[in-house]
Amino acid sequence: MNRKPIFAANWKMNMGVSATEDFLKSFLSKLQGQSFHAEIVIAPPFVSLAKLADILRSPSASNEAQAIQIAAQNCSEHDAGAYTGEVSVLMLRELFVHYVIIGHSERRAIYGETDATLNAKIHKAREANLKPIFCIGETLAQREAGQLEAILRTQLTAGLKEVSDKDLAELVIAYEPVWAIGTGVTATSAQAQDAHAFVRSVIAELYGPDSAAKLRIQYGGSVKPGNAAELMACPDIDGALIGGAALEPQSFLEIIRNGSCTQDS
Ligand code: PGA
Repeated sequence: MNRKPIFAANWKMNMGVSATEDFLKSFLSKLQGQSFHAEIVIAPPFVSLAKLADILRSPSASNEAQAIQIAAQNCSEHDAGAYTGEVSVLMLRELFVHYVIIGHSERRAIYGETDATLNAKIHKAREANLKPIFCIGETLAQREAGQLEAILRTQLTAGLKEVSDKDLAELVIAYEPVWAIGTGVTATSAQAQDAHAFVRSVIAELYGPDSAAKLRIQYGGSVKPGNAAELMACPDIDGALIGGAALEPQSFLEIIRNGSCTQDS
């Protein structure tokens, strides 16, 4: 199964408008003339989306720039109205947003987003034809208590409740062990591959083997230029969701380069 790997920069609460402009200037000049068998995605904070869209979707933007997809880091599960501080999927559509990260472990842990809320966000995103990057993953305590599979199964089953086969085909899953996020500790490629294979097996139970075989599953958690190739060489790993190492153009590019050269083209 030839799944196109997807490398997504999750900038979290970094990179305002001028930093976004600086990043793109450097990143696009490094990207010029290069082609990878990979999809490149950038998820800036909400306030920088318009700048990203202006640059990447300008009629004079290069082919490499046009090919970069824009993502949001979150969306509201509501359409409009009295939800102070929230951003709707239709507002995101106006800014050429294509993907939306849903259920990042920081949203779950710090902002208390539940599986039910995340499920509502996935449905809302699909109504607006946005593609969810749905994040799942276990904490260290859960892994050590032998709960890895139970946690992933619950997150998948509850998060994808009543999500159709058709909508699943537009979704990406990001497996991000919480203990590997921003810590410098990466899951070994064997640990990551085992978890990814398990996620795919749960999707096969829920949606059948064909849908499972087509689904892209990204790994996230301290991905760096030095570990990208080994992780991406695993058969069930189809790209990465990258935080810290995607704040710097050169290191984001090296991850894409090192990670995509091990994939079938
Ligand atoms: P990290 O973050 O690459 O800084 O570990 C990954 C993520 O949170 O998506």
